[in-house]
Amino acid sequence: MLFVQSLGVPRSARTRGSLLGQSTCACRGARTFAARVAVARTGQELRRGTVVCSASAGNSKSVVKGSSVVVVLGASRGLGKELVRRLSADGTFTVHAVSRSACDEFVQDPELRHQLDARNPEQMHELVAKTRPDVIVNCVAPAESDGVDEYPAYSYAVTSQCVDACLGVKSQGKTPLFLLVSALGAGDSENSIPSQVKDNMRGMLLDKSRAEKHLRTKYGDDFVIVRPAPLVDEDATGSGILTESVNAYGAITRGDLAELLCQILNASESARGKILTAVDGTKVLHVSPYIRNYEFWEKLPFAAFELA
Ligand SMILES: NC(=O)c1ccc[n+]([C@@H]2O[C@H](COP(=O)([O-])OP(=O)(O)OC[C@H]3O[C@@H](n4cnc5c(N)ncnc54)[C@H](OP(=O)(O)O)[C@@H]3O)[C@@H](O)[C@H]2O)c1
Repeated sequence: MLFVQSLGVPRSARTRGSLLGQSTCACRGARTFAARVAVARTGQELRRGTVVCSASAGNSKSVVKGSSVVVVLGASRGLGKELVRRLSADGTFTVHAVSRSACDEFVQDPELRHQLDARNPEQMHELVAKTRPDVIVNCVAPAESDGVDEYPAYSYAVTSQCVDACLGVKSQGKTPLFLLVSALGAGDSENSIPSQVKDNMRGMLLDKSRAEKHLRTKYGDDFVIVRPAPLVDEDATGSGILTESVNAYGAITRGDLAELLCQILNASESARGKILTAVDGTKVLHVSPYIRNYEFWEKLPFAAFELA
């Protein structure tokens, strides 16, 4: 049993059912939305035919060759904060945390935290020139206070400024890998999300689509675009999956998504130039003709992308 609805509906008015489990997916951007989904937590967590993406750093090829400076945009909370935490713990990377608010609570070294607006061209050029990143990860989403009118231009503005700044160092022989956190429903994944949530997400998806297109047309193949399913604030399950298919929908925790991003950075040249959907294999949903959990005997309609 499952329902999806907008945050505009008061919590008290939302239907309650005897769901196996529920999670609230909140896009904490200018336009917030929520999808309340029933999440099957049954024994058959991952169905046959689906492989959880797990990269072995030992025998795989890193996209971060030689040096290992990673700049994370949008690091003060949510996914970006989780990513900074995990990458810093890894020990392989020098991680710079960037956002408008301070990250001093969890980034001790003042050299590694940068308080700036990623839409500002001068600040972005200065940041990239100073840090000389091997990888730049764009996890930015507008804050509630930015207002809904910021879509559909916010992610595009950040991405285009960042692309310009990276192209500056690229011309000096440095080619930062650009990892863009987009959203499922952007670009050619438009039909992978349920029509019930499309209206609420329209501005954000248009914004992400423009950002993706700009990156792909301006930046060559030195990118990875990851389109996550709606994010949930729950404990990580360790069941995150990457797939090139646009037939995956469901949810994923920020922890599991951050883990997949770490695996991409740690493990594989094979992700370069790819557009990958990220979803939790235990939270995959069937969307058409109506939204429901997969039955245990149903094979998921996509194959996992294996980081080589
Ligand atoms: N939430 C979802 O369900 C969902 C679904 C699909 C995709 N996504 C994408 O996943 C990514 C992470 O989402 P999230 O919900 O974890 O994000 P979040 O918690 O809203 O955090 C966004 C981060 O971006 C920073 N930021 C915003 N504007 C900025 C600017 N102009 N310059 C520098 N930093 C800026 C924020 O810090 P300051 O405000 O302090 O600057 C914050 O650290 C985003 O790209 C989002 O679009 C989210």
